[in-house]
Amino acid sequence: MGSLTKTVVLLCVISSVLCTPFINKLQPGQEWPTRSSVKQPYHQFDEIENGTISDTVATEVAAQEEKAPENNKPKVKEDDVERIDYSGAQVWKVSTKKSNAHRVINQLASEKLIASWGGNHTSIDILVKPKAVENVTATLKNKDIAYYIMIEDLQQRIDEENPPLDENELELQDRRGHRMTWKQYHRLEDIHGFLDYLAKTYPSIVSVNSIGKSHEGRDLKVLRISDGKKTNKAVFIDGGIHAREWISPAVVTYFINQFAENFDVESDDIRNIDWYFLPVVNPDGYEYTHKTDRLWRKNRRGFGGCAGADLNRNFGYQWGGKGASRYPCSEIYRGSGPFSEPESKAIAQFFKSTGADFSAYLTYHSYGQYLLYPWGYDNALPPDHKNLETVGKMMAQAIQKTGGSEYKVGSSSGLLYPAAGGSDDWAKSLNIKYTYTIELSDTGRYGFVLPASYIEPVARENLAGLRVLASQVNKE
Ligand code: ARG
Ligand code: ZN
Repeated sequence: MGSLTKTVVLLCVISSVLCTPFINKLQPGQEWPTRSSVKQPYHQFDEIENGTISDTVATEVAAQEEKAPENNKPKVKEDDVERIDYSGAQVWKVSTKKSNAHRVINQLASEKLIASWGGNHTSIDILVKPKAVENVTATLKNKDIAYYIMIEDLQQRIDEENPPLDENELELQDRRGHRMTWKQYHRLEDIHGFLDYLAKTYPSIVSVNSIGKSHEGRDLKVLRISDGKKTNKAVFIDGGIHAREWISPAVVTYFINQFAENFDVESDDIRNIDWYFLPVVNPDGYEYTHKTDRLWRKNRRGFGGCAGADLNRNFGYQWGGKGASRYPCSEIYRGSGPFSEPESKAIAQFFKSTGADFSAYLTYHSYGQYLLYPWGYDNALPPDHKNLETVGKMMAQAIQKTGGSEYKVGSSSGLLYPAAGGSDDWAKSLNIKYTYTIELSDTGRYGFVLPASYIEPVARENLAGLRVLASQVNKE
């Protein structure tokens, strides 16, 4: 080894910061850049004061879920696991225009007759438990609160959501080298198998790294697509923070497939970006929704019926503020501290250790058809909110032109409700310019239980949105 090389290697050991340009000269796709320093977030963890829990709808609904870890949903035995049966459960869209609506809904939630599926300033979607349908009907009629039945029988929708592949598809699947189809929602094994297949098939541009493990020990696999040009921008995209939002990993893997399989003929906007994808942030929750409870939201750390923290309340910027719960049984439990959960912590560590200087962070959720920018923790706006609004509107326009779906653009707190500890706010606090939470289809007809036949159209129109973002990133 020449003495110059020795010096460089020594420097690399001493400081991975100095080493970054050296690493970039390795075979593209073989090694990821690393560095030991990162831009300081606006606040360190220990600077964050404990926010008081506000009285938003979501919080109250959650706080009142606090006691009674008992899970009285009927279960049926299937494939050796107890699967929760949602027969007779309904989903309603309830108008919150009347001033008493929130109070009435909170009361029903505290009696465990309903559960919130989310909402905005004018309405809230609620799951009405089978035995409560009569009671809740009477209550809303009595209080003159308008509602509309979106789903008559939730279990029926669940049964129809993910039908088996037909013969042709099965045959195609066998010849492809991986099992992903985008005609079905797939188990984690198929998704991870697909990522590994791409890395093996396109080693010069695709690589896969596990950035950590979930609570139950599953890999958190990040796939990188890059031709290794030093001038490239960097974009991070994740999906599946919330377990039941199946359309999210499906759409993110669709993007991966498009870019990896067609990289040579892709546009310069796509080829001039180092893409990082984490399609399933919450693998334990995701598998749990396939095996046991289709409507599970959180991760799986903790105990029994009250297991899990809401990973999108666990990030370390303004952690513990409005719209997050201190109660472990709540659907929006914030966790015991910022980044208390292995899944969110792995993301934070990845951002700290990677050499990439991200221009954009996109996190895909469902449902509602929103393009949301920070802040989510409270009714406040970042200094560049006008630019975020403009670019968001451009993305929404491209989506609508391509597939017809209408996406509303606005700040999370302004358009929906304040909710602190989200991954988007944390990414923005790291100074990542184009930070968006994208709430995919639909607007409530199927809600979380969107039939698999929607995967391709939803992914296709959102790819058009992503292309607008890529073009914008390249203009910076
Ligand atoms: N539906 C998402 C949630 O409730 C929206 C998150 C928006 N971002 C935020 N920081 N509140 O988790
Ligand atoms: Zn979500």
